Amino acid sequence: MGRYLLGVLLLATSLGWSAELPVPSSAEFCGDCHRAIEEGWKQSAHSQAVESRLFQDAMKLAETDYGASARKTCLSCHSPIAVQTGDLALVRKVSWEGITCDYCHSIREVTLTGPNPKATVDYSLVKSGPWKDVNSPAHGTAYSAVHTSSLICVVCHEYRNSLGFPVLTTYSEWSKSPYPGKNQSCQSCHMYRVEGNVVDPRVQRTAEAGINLHQIPGSHSMQQLEKALHAQLSATHEGGRLQVVVEVANRGAGHSVPTGSPMRQLILELRADPYGGGHWSERRVFRRTVADQKGAVIKLEPRAFLKGAQVVSDTRIAPGETRKETFTFQVPQGTRTQVEADFFYYYSPMATTEAQQKLKFLTLRRLVE
Ligand code: HEC
Ligand code: HEC
Ligand code: HEC
Ligand code: HEC
Ligand code: HEC
Repeated sequence: MGRYLLGVLLLATSLGWSAELPVPSSAEFCGDCHRAIEEGWKQSAHSQAVESRLFQDAMKLAETDYGASARKTCLSCHSPIAVQTGDLALVRKVSWEGITCDYCHSIREVTLTGPNPKATVDYSLVKSGPWKDVNSPAHGTAYSAVHTSSLICVVCHEYRNSLGFPVLTTYSEWSKSPYPGKNQSCQSCHMYRVEGNVVDPRVQRTAEAGINLHQIPGSHSMQQLEKALHAQLSATHEGGRLQVVVEVANRGAGHSVPTGSPMRQLILELRADPYGGGHWSERRVFRRTVADQKGAVIKLEPRAFLKGAQVVSDTRIAPGETRKETFTFQVPQGTRTQVEADFFYYYSPMATTEAQQKLKFLTLRRLVE
């Protein structure tokens, strides 16, 4: 081991890179060489998982309402390094980095046996990743099959709370979908290959293989939302009855839309504006509504994570499913009507600005005679 380390350091020095990596280390150290990957990661929700005001507000509320121990539960996913290094006060920089490089690349194994999935993490100078037989001047490398499968994501994207209630079910939604059969893991839709240098050419030239997108775009990405859903609008106007049908299909998400936190919603707002006056609007909401043990509907994330105990209703759209929504309005025959369907993705009731709260990502219009 000693000799091996010396070899690593000598090689690093010969490349002009002499600092030894701290363990666990901040993304900034990794980004010194893996620059393009660090840039992608910085734009990810993972890098904001502790810093975001939304999370900070939610964690404070959890501590106020359910005691100091709630903090550890929240941080076990939002900053696993903080919990594993005993830095619950979030003193160290790396703890503020949320789901950071050294956490994911220190995962050696993932098991699905207990009530929740569990990762075996070993912070050392060996980084695990998708490749066999690569060399780095800064650290050892270890091939890991887990990194090329959905197992690396299951650790946080599937969760039963202490009441045994499944709060997050993204992984099991995926595993029941046709996608595993088509060899499409979480990475194939969220970490697809893009152009970029794995290692900055200033440090080492590597083959132009491209990198796996570490931005991991999800519901905050317009492109992903557009990929997820296909929608069609049709209308008939007979005997003074205007009937509008909106068909919406989950064609591009490997799980329900919406998935994840029970606060997420897909909202369809239909408006009908007849020429010469009158206005109708109606909305349909696709979501999983969760209640506590007494049956009271839960309206905030901290409560959902800690006190969720039953599903009241689930109107989310499963992978591959098509939903048909019908709307009927009384409009005198011969009146032209502008019909518009707007789709919104709603993130969180704790968001403090309109833009953080929801995003309009699709509009369909039709003029009906
Ligand atoms: C001094 C530059 C340097 C630093 C700093 C550095 N790496 Fe690397 N890393 C490399 C090189 C070079 C490779 C090999 C790339 C190749 O051959 O294409 C590599 C490969 C990897 C791999 C692929 C391993 C595999 O088997 O799939 C991972 C994962 C990785 N690094 C993670 C990290 C993490 C996490 C950090 C920060 C804790 C880090 N690296 C810091 C240079 C560096
Ligand atoms: C250590 C826990 C952890 C692991 C491992 C993890 N995630 Fe996440 N992920 C989170 C947390 C926490 C958030 C929410 C961050 C926030 O918004 O505060 C999140 C958010 C996301 C989002 C939402 C992005 C958006 O637009 O809002 C996507 C997509 C995602 N993760 C995909 C993945 C994929 C794919 C993997 C596996 C390669 C993965 N995650 C592994 C904890 C994790
Ligand atoms: C949520 C977990 C997660 C985080 C956080 C993460 N990675 Fe990765 N990384 C992966 C996975 C999974 C792969 C392999 C993807 C595949 O092959 O499908 C990967 C691949 C890599 C590779 C191999 C080259 C490539 O693009 O495939 C390097 C190098 C790497 N990561 C470095 C980093 C660095 C540096 C950071 C921080 C700036 C980081 N990773 C953050 C999960 C993560
Ligand atoms: C076939 C492609 C595909 C696969 C496979 C897939 N996803 Fe997604 N995912 C999407 C699309 C498209 C969206 C955006 C629509 C949405 O938010 O529902 C998304 C959204 C998400 C979100 C954002 C939800 C939120 O609450 O903000 C998370 C988290 C996520 N995916 C995690 C995963 C995980 C974990 C896996 C693997 C178990 C996975 N995805 C597999 C396509 C995919
Ligand atoms: C098992 C892992 C896990 C635990 C434990 C957890 N979270 Fe999360 N959290 C996630 C994931 C994953 C997301 C990403 C969105 C999704 O899947 O819908 C998320 C999203 C959130 C969001 C929405 C962020 C956004 O950008 O919209 C808030 C707020 C939040 N969590 C707060 C908390 C609080 C407070 C606790 C502790 C009571 C907690 N979480 C415990 C995994 C976890």
